[in-house]
Amino acid sequence: MKVYFDNAATTAMDDRVIEAMLPFMKTHYGNPSSVHSHGREVRTAIEKSRKKVAELLNASPSEIFFTSGGTEADNTALVCSVETHGITHAISSPIEHHAVLHTLEVLDKKGKIKLSLLDVDQKGNVDYSQLRDLLQKNPGSLISLMHANNEIGNLNDLQKIGELAKEFGAFFHSDTVQTMGHYVHDLKNLPVDAIVAGGHKFHGPKGSGFLYVRKDKKIHPFIHGGAQERNMRGGTENVIGIIGIAKALELAYEHMSDHQAHILSVKKHFIEKLNSEIPGVEFNGMSADLDHSLYTVLNVSLPPSESNRGMLLFNLDLEGISASGGSACSSGATVGSHVLRALGHQAERDSVRFSFSRFNTLEEVDYTIEKLKELYAVEV
Ligand SMILES: Cc1ncc(COP(=O)(O)O)c(C=O)c1O
Repeated sequence: MKVYFDNAATTAMDDRVIEAMLPFMKTHYGNPSSVHSHGREVRTAIEKSRKKVAELLNASPSEIFFTSGGTEADNTALVCSVETHGITHAISSPIEHHAVLHTLEVLDKKGKIKLSLLDVDQKGNVDYSQLRDLLQKNPGSLISLMHANNEIGNLNDLQKIGELAKEFGAFFHSDTVQTMGHYVHDLKNLPVDAIVAGGHKFHGPKGSGFLYVRKDKKIHPFIHGGAQERNMRGGTENVIGIIGIAKALELAYEHMSDHQAHILSVKKHFIEKLNSEIPGVEFNGMSADLDHSLYTVLNVSLPPSESNRGMLLFNLDLEGISASGGSACSSGATVGSHVLRALGHQAERDSVRFSFSRFNTLEEVDYTIEKLKELYAVEV
């Protein structure tokens, strides 16, 4: 049996997304910047995609900029909000994705900002009162706090953070890569200034993404060149990526509550089985709390085991199960997870992130549990 439980890394493309993209590989190959009919038909398709994305997010098409993915969108929001708005202080957390953390660290190193990282507790929760204190001392900061953590599934309260941002005149960017297409984002009512998406996290194509920037918080471009994306991102558009991401988002919104219910049932079953079949199992972050975590992610901490130590992912892979690492190793030989390290996870326990999509089944969970039982049978 082959089991794919690494959907937070990337997802399988939906056939309907591929079908929507195909004509733009075969027949509609014009450059959207060309004024002739070949170009114009592609330009129209891009603008239709932008309108679709904007409608789904309750935003305006002029607030949506297509990018090469979540990383570029994060970089653009952070670097260019600092430049455009003269920001000199940023607040983030140690468990952000590296697309955010490394970008802010570079800005700090270059002397463009001073970076403050919020404390997180052992479950990975940030401290909102510390955020308030920092904002009080540094009004007009940049806040970058993700919606859901990609490793441990913790959810931040964007409404609460956004209200604090408003109170203290901050620019609020949130990395929404893991929640786009999985939750409704109502941007007319959510007080965020910039959010991002990567199409491959919700059954769209890799190398596609977008950035939303609120109208009254406009920023300068990150990539300079031609006048594409209304002068916000030079370079001939990734037309098939744009068609694909818009279609994927449309499909995600169409059946979101059904998908959520199905994925939650898979995750719930997994938690119950682990608790009953694997003695000593624990869960990292908030991921086992069904009401307070991203429903696609479960981060499992397994008891110390000689035969699996450092080999668990490899052993699972041999059984056809694809999952992701979550080692907290800090020996220097291998770079472990900065997220688990921030939570103070014990290095002798192995951690695995299982992440789900609408294509997963309960049978796949049962198969994985059987294999985990075999792998841990010697010691438990
Ligand atoms: C939270 C988060 N931010 C950013 C990214 C980067 O997105 P992309 O792969 O589209 O560049 C990822 C992808 O793993 C992610 O999980």
